[in-house]
This record gives sequence, structure tokens and C-alpha cells, in this order.
Amino acid sequence: MNLDRPLPQVNVVKKVPAAKGERQVLVIPVGPAPKDDAHPVVLGPAAKAVPKQLDLELLGAATSLGSVARTALPSPARTTALLVGVGSSSPDTEQLRTAAGSALQSLHDADINAVLQFDLESAPQAVALIEGALLGAYRFGQYHQQSAPQAPETITVVVPSSLHAAVTDALEAVITVITQVWRTRDLVNMAPNDLNPATFADYAVRSAKLPRTKVTVHDEKTLEAKGFGGHLAVGRGSTHPPRLVKIAYRPPRAKTHVALVGKGITFDSGGLSLKPAKSMETMKCDMAGAATVLGTVIAASQLKLPIAVTGWLCLAENMPSGTATRPSDVISIYGGKTVEVLNTDAEGRLVLADGLVAAAEERPDLLVDIATLTGAQMVALGAQVGAVMGTDNARSAVQEASRAVDEPMWPMPLPAHLRTGLDSKIADISNMGERYGGMLTAGLFLKEFVGESEWAHLDIAGPAFNEGKAEGIRSEGGTGFGLRTLLRTIEVAHEHHTTKRS
Ligand code: BES
Ligand code: MN
Ligand code: ZN
Repeated sequence: MNLDRPLPQVNVVKKVPAAKGERQVLVIPVGPAPKDDAHPVVLGPAAKAVPKQLDLELLGAATSLGSVARTALPSPARTTALLVGVGSSSPDTEQLRTAAGSALQSLHDADINAVLQFDLESAPQAVALIEGALLGAYRFGQYHQQSAPQAPETITVVVPSSLHAAVTDALEAVITVITQVWRTRDLVNMAPNDLNPATFADYAVRSAKLPRTKVTVHDEKTLEAKGFGGHLAVGRGSTHPPRLVKIAYRPPRAKTHVALVGKGITFDSGGLSLKPAKSMETMKCDMAGAATVLGTVIAASQLKLPIAVTGWLCLAENMPSGTATRPSDVISIYGGKTVEVLNTDAEGRLVLADGLVAAAEERPDLLVDIATLTGAQMVALGAQVGAVMGTDNARSAVQEASRAVDEPMWPMPLPAHLRTGLDSKIADISNMGERYGGMLTAGLFLKEFVGESEWAHLDIAGPAFNEGKAEGIRSEGGTGFGLRTLLRTIEVAHEHHTTKRS
């Protein structure tokens, strides 16, 4: 599997180039006219490029955010116009990102240069546009022997002269981050016969070979020796043994340390508490949290953030077999707390408990876990909004970050009364609570393993995986949702931490 394929080439230019050998698609924004909002118009500098008589029907087809329409242009030669709705006469960064994503999503040939000519007033707007275009250009064609899906291999963004230097300077960082979103999506989309705990750990070792970045893989023998009973219990039914991977990025003189823990179940069959066939179809996505953590630490390291970051990938395959953990088995998590496993399908919290205890041992300033943890998360918030629980400060940091990058994460409570549902007659705690409020009970379970840490728990069961069609920046299958939030959270935590001290 090729996880190293490059993103499209991005050019930042001051005016629309002449098409050379390749076909050129001029992507231009359509929105309600600033004064008369019943009447859609081409917004900004692109208005000059399109013939005046461009019919209203065509514009109408592209008025709502993300809708697209196409027309041939008389000049420049070999140029088509792709009209894309931005949903407003002065679109914000989220609308720009979505519109660019939809535009690139709708182009299906590699030999196209997609030229985006939007009305841009600031560098952050241009950055959002580039992010959207790169996120929308993602395709997963690795298993197609024939007719693999394609996307433009060149993206050109036209910016006003006054922004050219700033946008050019910001470009490398954008590409670094979106590359990791692509890798996260690839890992999630990879078939579970190719991605198991050992191959995932190998990929982490290979991809995190970076300055000041150290990867340590705990294999099943080390996990046994050190008492990581959560990983061992979940992995016991599989022929692919579990792994716990630690990736430590340590820049010089860091004042803040953030630890990230990701759920990495490479396939969740439910174990002996077997899932019905239909619910199992998407369960290769159950390692999305770990993939997101890996990508975040790699990006933090490549961006040389002045913040220490430790990622923990909790990797196991949850399978039924003669050696599998039984409902009613009692296990002990790293550090010694015992758990009565009443449902082997509530496995994510068992591996995360190991990871959280290990991460908290290092006393990070902020501890964040991210997991496709409960079906209840999807029932509560649907497929496009994540949930965030935890201590007040940690939760606020994540919310601030999620707002800044336009990845919606909604706060959820950890009500004390639900904790009694986890009481076990024979062990310290059970892994199964009462029927209602399953997402919150899972959060309460994790809370038992974080000690005094400032801690946030992100449940991304819904938004991590798109079972429907690609839309805007949301690809089909793995979405990479949460990576941009985690990266921003690291920076927010650092800002909070350093201002509090001074
Ligand atoms: N991986 C699932 C949660 C999930 C469901 C993620 C749907 C993405 C989409 C998790 O391990 C699980 O099975 N949770 C159980 C918990 C229950 C047994 C307490 C669930 O949500 O049903
Ligand atoms: Mn499960
Ligand atoms: Zn799971």
C-alpha cells in the first residue's frame, strides 16, 4: 500500500495563468448579490472572466453552498468555468473551505489544473480555500485495479498581490497538515486484512522518523510484562497480537506537554459479544482515533511546534475465538485497577484505560483522548458533529480549537449519577453501564483512569467515517475528522498555559 503518494501541486499566483498543455478549470464563486440577494451573481474578480449573458439558470444551479455547475468559456482557450456556490455574498472561512472542497470533489481527471479565483480579503481566507481544495481532492483508489478514482494533480490559487507573500509563506504548513489528514484517511480506509496492530505500528515507526521524535513499540511480550491488561484482553481473540505505540516529540525548552491517546481497534467484530453483520461492515474505522493521533504528532513535529507532544496508539484487533476474552472475565488495567468485562464489544475503553494511565504517569499539562467509542455518540449528535467531555479547562481548550478550525465538537456532561451503573460486584469497575446515555457512561469509565489530569475525551464515532457520498471537505469513508482540532488544541493549551504562568 502506497501511503506516500503526494498531494496535488499547489501554486499561488497573482493572476489567472494561460492554459498550457493541460486542461484548465476556472473555479469561481457564486453567491447571492450583495444588495439583491434573490439574484445570484459571480462574486469578486472572476465576474470579469465570465460572459455577461451567462444564464441565470446556470447561476441558480450554483447558489447554495457547495453546489456546482459547469460551462465552457470562450477564453482563455481550453478553459472551462466551474461555478461553485459559496452560500453568502461575503463567505466566511468555513464556507470557502466547503466550496473549494465541493469544487475539487466534482473534478475527476488528473490532468486538470484547477484554478481557483475567489474574492479573498485575508491570508486566513486564502488558507481556508487551499485547505478545502486539498481536502476535496482526496480519493482512495488503492485497491482499484481498474478505473481508480482521480482528482486534479494541480491546484492554482489566484490571490491579490497584497496577500501573495503571506499566503506563500503559509503554504508549507497547510500542506504539512493536510498531508496528515490524507494519511489518516488512508489508514482508516485501508482494509483490515492489511492494517492490523503490527502493520500499523510498523507504519508509525516508518512515518515518524523525524528529528526529536522517538517511537517506542510495546509488543505483546512487553505489554504482558508491564501489565497492560486492557490491550491483552481485547487482543486475546485475534491471531494479530496487540501493540501500544508511544511517539514522543520533544522540542528544546518546551514549557508545555500535551499527551494524546487514540483508540486503535483495527477491526471491531465485538468479540464474543459479537456484533450483527450489518454493524460490522464499517468497523475497520475503529482505529480512526489512533490514526488521528499519529498524524497530529507527526504534523506537530514537522511544524516544529515549541510544545512537547506524546502520542499513544492503543492498537488491538477485537475478535471472537476460543482464546477470546469472555463476558464476565476480570482483567487488570495498567496500574492495577480491575475490570469485570461484561460486554466484549465495549473494548475501546479497555485499551484506552491502559493508554490513559500510561500517559497520565508522565504528568502532561493536558491529556486528550480521541476514539470512535460509542454508537450512542451517533444517536446523540449524528454523523458530522463530535462530542467532547472532560474537565472544564480541557474541554474549553478543545472547544476553542474546534471552533477555530471549523470541526464541530459539542460539549457533553459526565453526570455522576450514571457512575453507579458501572459498579461491579466482584471487581473495581465493570465495562458496561446502564442502557441510556451510553456515550456519557463510556466517558465516566475513562475518567477513572486519568487521575488528576486536565483531560478531554473526544468521541468521534459519527464524524470519523462517512458512510454516504463525499460532500464538501468530507471524503467518503475515513474523513480525518479531529486532526485539525487536535493540532490546534495543542497550540491553545500552550497559549493558556504560558499566559497563566506569566
Ligand atoms: N466501535 C464501537 C462504537 C462505534 C459504533 C463506532 C458505530 C462507530 C460506529 C464500540 O466499540 C462499541 O461497540 N460500542 C458499544 C458499547 C456498548 C457495548 C456498551 C456500542 O456503542 O454499542
Ligand atoms: Mn465495540
Ligand atoms: Zn470499538
